[in-house]
Amino acid sequence: MRGIYIGLVGLLAGAVPALAATPPDSAAATDLKSLGPTQPAKVQDGQYTDKNGDPTYHVTDGGKKVDWYTMSGYLRYNANCIVCHGPDGMGSTYAPSLVDALKGMDYAHFAGIIVGGKKDVTASQELVMPAFGDNRNVMCYMPDIYTYLRARSDGAVGRNRPEEHEAKPAAFTKAEDACMK
Ligand code: HEC
Repeated sequence: MRGIYIGLVGLLAGAVPALAATPPDSAAATDLKSLGPTQPAKVQDGQYTDKNGDPTYHVTDGGKKVDWYTMSGYLRYNANCIVCHGPDGMGSTYAPSLVDALKGMDYAHFAGIIVGGKKDVTASQELVMPAFGDNRNVMCYMPDIYTYLRARSDGAVGRNRPEEHEAKPAAFTKAEDACMK
């Protein structure tokens, strides 16, 4: 029995590289049992989505390990948003906390703000969220940034850089190359 078991494990281990080499287009989506509105209901090529099809995070190992999109979102957030929204989405004197703002905000609403910007101008203040619609460094990574901020908003990831991440999916690299061209 034991010999058969080890044989099977060996077989499975042998199959992993073959699976990873499957072209991204042909990988099928896997259904997951979603445990809440922001929890993954599906995963395809390392990208998790909730019941509504919105991008969402997958955090394991007690908060230490994140999916690739959360990791990428962390990096893009720090490159493009931190200057106004502060470290880890916590907000600043100028711009609101995105940890709070993301609560209940769906992806379409989020994307609308990022593409078109947002303004709150009164006699005493002028708060301007720039439109990023022409900025590929943001546009090509919008699901990533949303995913990271959602994880922050739910408290699934803490402050600072995530310690570990899932492998970068081949489909990610392909989409990134196509978008940045
Ligand atoms: C130049 C400063 C600045 C930068 C850079 C910036 N924002 Fe903003 N953002 C703001 C301000 C100011 C507001 C508030 C606007 C308002 O109140 O109408 C805002 C609002 C938002 C909101 C809406 C919050 C709410 O409560 O409805 C979201 C979401 C958002 N920003 C995301 C981002 C993301 C993601 C990035 C990086 C890609 C980013 N912002 C970069 C200044 C900035």
